[in-house]
Amino acid sequence: MTDIYKVNPQKPEKVILKKAADIIKKSRLVAFPTETVYGLGADALNSNAVKKIFFAKERPMDNPLIVHIADKDDIYILAKNIPKEANNLIHKFFPGPLTIVLEKKPIVPDETTARLATVAIRMPENRIAIDLIQASQTPIAAPSANRAGRPSPTRAEHVFQDLKEKIDLIIDGGPTKLGLESTVVDLTVETPQILRPGAVTLEMLKPELKKIELHPSILGNHADLETIPKSPGMKYRHYAPKAKLMVIVGNRENIHFKIEELIHDLHMKKMKVGIASVSERKYPADHIENLGYSKNEIAKNLFDILRRFDELNLDLIIAEGVDEEGIGLAIMNRLQKASGYAVIRV
Ligand code: TXA
Ligand code: MG
Repeated sequence: MTDIYKVNPQKPEKVILKKAADIIKKSRLVAFPTETVYGLGADALNSNAVKKIFFAKERPMDNPLIVHIADKDDIYILAKNIPKEANNLIHKFFPGPLTIVLEKKPIVPDETTARLATVAIRMPENRIAIDLIQASQTPIAAPSANRAGRPSPTRAEHVFQDLKEKIDLIIDGGPTKLGLESTVVDLTVETPQILRPGAVTLEMLKPELKKIELHPSILGNHADLETIPKSPGMKYRHYAPKAKLMVIVGNRENIHFKIEELIHDLHMKKMKVGIASVSERKYPADHIENLGYSKNEIAKNLFDILRRFDELNLDLIIAEGVDEEGIGLAIMNRLQKASGYAVIRV
């Protein structure tokens, strides 16, 4: 049985958090909201508890988890040889949608970090998440609370769709604020490297670090990925909706023209086409979902809408892309992966 409890996101009910914390203390699983996406939580310092996350999600054991803390100082319990740059980032972006990768201390079990010598740490900016970590009296390991390969959950219903009967409790705190997972930055290398773009953007990180670079895969160079999956999660197919997805980027007018041409061709072949749009264009498609007009709206709605398309039995989904400035880089990174790199530039 999977219980779902609605909780007030501003003032989480203490009795419910206590119940959830008791489940974590018993080495079992609780799904909870963060400001990015819903996480599937377990006691990060208990290898038996952490193993259950991998089983419930059907996640490959070589893909490490992010450890969530409620207090900045807990970094020192989990990590060692912390470089100076880390302090800048912690000061500026914790709590918030930033995960930093540091050298791990032995207290963190191998199961949590998939046997890497490093640990990914983040302090979420969400009352429910923070209160749950505090009540559990332990850091909480939490990947996104979806079945492996599916779009990350931004609502409690999404978690239920993927994990019902596999976990004890889902805390429903309403739709998540940001909608895309945290930015992951590796600080254990000579030049700090963004392994996954998110709401803490490259532009925001630059002033805080002397040097910073993007992992090559983020720019779509997935040939490198086969050989050097830096963040082990990178090599797996992600966010995949059931229908095939294709992304069109470039000049706005050209995008409209290309999509209309594709719809025409696909209809000739009696195929059903869905569009994920970021403009007001009225395409002659079988179904249109508007992702939003601003990048923040698009980020917030993207995974929800990818899941909504699954109910429609479409043959192909075509998405209008955005430019890669700011959070646009994270949006395009998720769209690239969801489409299996089927991105056409026009
Ligand atoms: O916003 C988020 O980060 C959400 C919420 C729940 O906090 N969590 C999340 O976790 O997205 P997950 O497991 O879906 O993604 C974690 C990513 C994976 O790509 C994983 O490979 C990478 O972080 N990662 C974790 N530990 C790492 C490490 N030690 N070194 C490099 N990459 C790591
Ligand atoms: Mg995930």
